[in-house]
Amino acid sequence: MMLIRNDLQFVVIGLLCYFGQPGKGAEPLGSTEQEWGHVTVRRGAHMFWWLYYTTADVSNYTERPLIIWLQGGPGMPSSGYGNFMEIGPLDINFEKRNYSLIQDFNVLFIDNPVGVGYSHVDGNDTKTPKNNEEIGEDLFRFLKIFMNRKEDFQNVPLYIFGESYGGKMVVEFACQIAKKKKKHNKHKWNFKGIGLGNSYISPVEYIRSYAPLAHQLGLVDKQGFTRIDELAKQIEVLINKKDFEEAADVELTMMQTLVKEMPGVDVYNFNARTNISSEPSLFSYLGLFTERMNSVVKEYLGVAGNREWSFLNNDIYESLSKDLLKSVAKRVEFLLNNTDIKIIVYNGALDFLVNTAGTRLWIENLKWKSRDKWKEASQQPFSVDGYIEGHVKQVDNLLLYVIFRAGHSVPVDNMLAFKHMLMKELVYSELLTSILY
Ligand SMILES: *[C@@H]1O[C@H](CO)[C@@H](O)[C@H](O)[C@H]1NC(C)=O
Ligand SMILES: *[C@@H]1O[C@H](CO)[C@@H](O)[C@H](O)[C@H]1NC(C)=O
Ligand SMILES: *[C@@H]1O[C@H](CO)[C@@H](O)[C@H](O)[C@H]1NC(C)=O
Ligand SMILES: *[C@@H]1O[C@H](CO)[C@@H](O)[C@H](O)[C@H]1NC(C)=O
Ligand SMILES: *[C@@H]1O[C@H](CO)[C@@H](O)[C@H](O)[C@H]1NC(C)=O
Repeated sequence: MMLIRNDLQFVVIGLLCYFGQPGKGAEPLGSTEQEWGHVTVRRGAHMFWWLYYTTADVSNYTERPLIIWLQGGPGMPSSGYGNFMEIGPLDINFEKRNYSLIQDFNVLFIDNPVGVGYSHVDGNDTKTPKNNEEIGEDLFRFLKIFMNRKEDFQNVPLYIFGESYGGKMVVEFACQIAKKKKKHNKHKWNFKGIGLGNSYISPVEYIRSYAPLAHQLGLVDKQGFTRIDELAKQIEVLINKKDFEEAADVELTMMQTLVKEMPGVDVYNFNARTNISSEPSLFSYLGLFTERMNSVVKEYLGVAGNREWSFLNNDIYESLSKDLLKSVAKRVEFLLNNTDIKIIVYNGALDFLVNTAGTRLWIENLKWKSRDKWKEASQQPFSVDGYIEGHVKQVDNLLLYVIFRAGHSVPVDNMLAFKHMLMKELVYSELLTSILY
């Protein structure tokens, strides 16, 4: 999830007094087989993890893949939004979710980067990572220790998924695994692929698409188009000059401008109905999360002590300010050039912020051996229960799923399609491969 921070402050104040008592108590949290803890990834830097074993009808959980799930922000812990809002067994009211990914997969949430959620550093914040590479290194160290402790998972197909800004971290995480695997060739993990959900891989492509998208959708008039387009051009110039901090400042103005020019439009899903306050619906959960993650959930887990869990850690966001608008498209190229992992890009078609137009642009611009093939290949519709839920295009190990009726958060908006994609790419295609070869 990528957050519009200037709106955040407002909502935090607005909702803290709005939601009162925590939910039903700790008991229902324990009904699924799960484990959690901290891994010390560097001296004084402790990363929180929360593992759910699959409830699939298999004789051993090792028969189903392990999905690592990373949230974006940057600064959003996946113990909160990802677990209770998107894919975990319970929703934020601690009621059973109709469909949770743990019904088919083992799921591991990590509060990343160190410093967010229940992860923490000793002493002052000089130990929090300052760029995407440091984040990737921490995640690699985490995985090494985790796999040593949980040997059963070493042969289990491993997929790493990230949403929004989390996708950038996933790409770097995967590069670190690939690099270190090449160097030492001793990590026996069964690393199979990554999932990039509405991921902010190349910010400039998304920003460049704002004005035409808003105009084509009929959300702005000509003046609105011009105002958004001028800002986009400014940001592009700054990014090209590698002045990333200044670019991030103008991008903040861009966010305010989008909200101003398109009142009532939820930038995370332009088809969503918004409250008269014009806040994206995502923010309406902020107070509830902060309250519950700091009471019932914290008590159940017995972690974090007096440390405050927050929906978005502003300090982490600030400390990554030079990195926010950097592209990691070259790192995706590195993965395509040097590994055979599956790269599953998926985009909710109704997301304005990390729009599908931008996703198509950075994919088309990738330099790799099948660049021309990609341009020529055509997308195919895919259906679930007789309805077309989106389009998919695949060339070699690179896939793009465009998911209909979904915005920034695909599992929230169209779980059916999301589940279909995961079963096809992570379970059935594996079975097919093992039969064919
Ligand atoms: C969950 O499933 C029930 C029964 O099929 C349905 O009535 C309900 O609307 C579903 N809830 C959600 C959030 O999809
Ligand atoms: C943080 O801690 C380190 C080591 O203890 C110290 O050298 C540094 O001055 C501290 N920084 C701040 C901003 O307090
Ligand atoms: C499940 O599989 C793992 C790895 O093959 C093995 O170590 C473990 O004993 C198995 N567990 C059960 C309950 O069979
Ligand atoms: C809009 O949101 C505010 C603050 O979250 C809330 O008090 C109000 O009831 C909401 N209005 C509607 C029509 O849902
Ligand atoms: C990947 O390979 C292509 C050639 O197929 C090359 O042009 C590109 O620079 C490479 N990218 C990286 C990051 O290695």
